[in-house]
Amino acid sequence: MSATLRQAAAEILRKNDRSGYTVPTHGLYPFQWSWDSAITALGWLKLDETRAWQECETMFRGQWANGMLPHILFHKNAASYFPGPDVWGGESHPVPSSAISQPPVWATAVRILYNSAADRSLADRVLRDLLPKLVAYHRWWYRERDPEGTGLVCSYHPWESGMDNSPAWDQPLSNVPEVDWTYHRRDLSHVDSDQRPKKPEYDRYLFLVDFYKRHEFNSRYIYEHCPYKVLDIGIISTLHRASQDLLHLCELANPPDDVTDIDMYMARTGDAIGTLWSEQSRCFLSHDVLTNEPLDEITTATVLPLLGGLASEEQAEAMAALIRDWIDATPFALSSTHPSSPRYESQRYWRGPVWLHINWLIALGLERYGKQELAVKLREAARDCVLSAGLWEYFDAESGAGCGGDDFSWTAAIALHWLDA
Ligand code: DGY
Repeated sequence: MSATLRQAAAEILRKNDRSGYTVPTHGLYPFQWSWDSAITALGWLKLDETRAWQECETMFRGQWANGMLPHILFHKNAASYFPGPDVWGGESHPVPSSAISQPPVWATAVRILYNSAADRSLADRVLRDLLPKLVAYHRWWYRERDPEGTGLVCSYHPWESGMDNSPAWDQPLSNVPEVDWTYHRRDLSHVDSDQRPKKPEYDRYLFLVDFYKRHEFNSRYIYEHCPYKVLDIGIISTLHRASQDLLHLCELANPPDDVTDIDMYMARTGDAIGTLWSEQSRCFLSHDVLTNEPLDEITTATVLPLLGGLASEEQAEAMAALIRDWIDATPFALSSTHPSSPRYESQRYWRGPVWLHINWLIALGLERYGKQELAVKLREAARDCVLSAGLWEYFDAESGAGCGGDDFSWTAAIALHWLDA
């Protein structure tokens, strides 16, 4: 990576720094988002180790008493975003927040920070403080989102997947009622509407937000009655990988208590994951719990079981073959939805564009299965996006044009952490 690009990435993190946390981008996302923040910490590591750890500490200050780590922390008011804490009903928490989580990549990021940190006493001190919080967070997923012990945690909102308008969620979301009140979307004043989710999707996103608030965030009630219940293969895979990283960290530092329950939860996932495999699609598919149907859409989430080591050697081989064809199917790889899908749109958010952090996670998974060459190909393709357009939120898979928010923190962080490696 050129010195100019490295400098541009560093400047973006500094510009998006709000003293202790980093906003994904100015205007469009003016708060702390959970998985953005975990990935952004990896970029800070290249610039300022203390600041990298601070990103984690600030996030975990917003953890709920039951262990849940919200997907947004509203540290300060900002009129440029909707829905804010009043709509979520999360104002009473020490840090006002949303009421859902996001792909749990934190333990994976913390393990990388801990392994790379030069200041060992700082790393040891922060890890001692974070470890019980990470354990509580993982237990929350397994306990609250899989109360029947099936091995597969359940997601209640497309925003929880982090892949908001992925075509995989179209069918389950179509069963959610629309809100009957009017609202004013702020995202469309920052980004072209053809790069963002459509109104019928937003109406349903908001119905769900309202549903949690009306039922006072009662986990049992929501589990039994939520009109959107999806076994999201992206969340299941990132959780499984992060649990491995968490157990590794527990071996290095004193765990808060006996963590063998995490082993047990992971073994259950290992036993259950085969039910999501699709021989025909050559990948794992998410699943609609309410209709008991697979969600037949090949998206970048469907190959993430590589990251968690959840695939057999044969399944990994089949997914690698799928990825090879997929890379060749668009000029700028790897598109978030397979271009053969009738719902693929190369520029619209999670319906086609390329996202750098997902490509990085898939590359980690490929490396795990010894598919180094393919991992390098993904990195080169990701670099092409950045060289073609700069450090945007996502990239049009056909033209390479930058889309969404500009000067984007996790793209800058991945450039520093991965592309510069
Ligand atoms: C948004 O507002 O677009 C976010 O993705 C929700 O977290």
